[in-house]
Amino acid sequence: WKKTEQLYEGKAKKVFATENPEVVIVDYKDDATAFNGEKKGTIVGKGVINNRMSNYIMKQLEKEGVPTHLVEELSDRETAVKKVSIVPLEVIVRNVAAGSFSKRMGVEEGKDLLCPILEFSYKCDELNDPFINDDYALALGLATQEEIDTIKNYTRKVNEVLKKFFLSIGIRLIDFKIEFGRLSDGTIILADEISPDTCRLWDVKTNEKLDKDRFRRDMGGTEEAYQEVMKRIFGE
Ligand code: C5P
Repeated sequence: WKKTEQLYEGKAKKVFATENPEVVIVDYKDDATAFNGEKKGTIVGKGVINNRMSNYIMKQLEKEGVPTHLVEELSDRETAVKKVSIVPLEVIVRNVAAGSFSKRMGVEEGKDLLCPILEFSYKCDELNDPFINDDYALALGLATQEEIDTIKNYTRKVNEVLKKFFLSIGIRLIDFKIEFGRLSDGTIILADEISPDTCRLWDVKTNEKLDKDRFRRDMGGTEEAYQEVMKRIFGE
């Protein structure tokens, strides 16, 4: 796979075209942003960790029947993926209260939820990714009912697979965000990344945060936290 022109540069990644119109190359950066780009910084080594971890998880999900964009890892920071048009929904799953849920609902961070919550935000920077429901998505034409059903089924499966996997490496999966895309024939597949940028990951024994909240909340030790997750997955 060879990069041709750059198609897009986002907050954490660049995307390049290839000679194959169905395949693009994602290049993960160390740049970090939070609060819709208001806070900017660098997490040294993050690009490598997010790339490798995301690919590792996507491979597991494929085995469990969730189709993903993964084609081939090309280097520490680069991966060939299937070209999709992103469904403009941030699909969030919560197993434990934290973050915006805790704020909105007045529930203490760390409280176990009685069942997992699946929620949608409209992916739109200008509006600050507002919280929406299925009817909003349908009424605005963001996705069809069939697509929403598919997305919810895959998402519940992703949660089951990830919860079990993280627990096996001593990590509590608090919540996470995923995104889906459409192939040129309309097939829905899992796209984007699954990493400490997009998941809340707490150590099972100490509840230490091993994710981007360390950056968002200026807690320090962000690089070390990402490396700890990497070490538990790959033993390095
Ligand atoms: O901030 P909030 O509590 O709604 O975040 C829920 C989960 O979604 C967290 O794991 C967070 O890292 C992730 N998220 C994300 N990108 C966003 C918003 C949330 O990855 N734009």
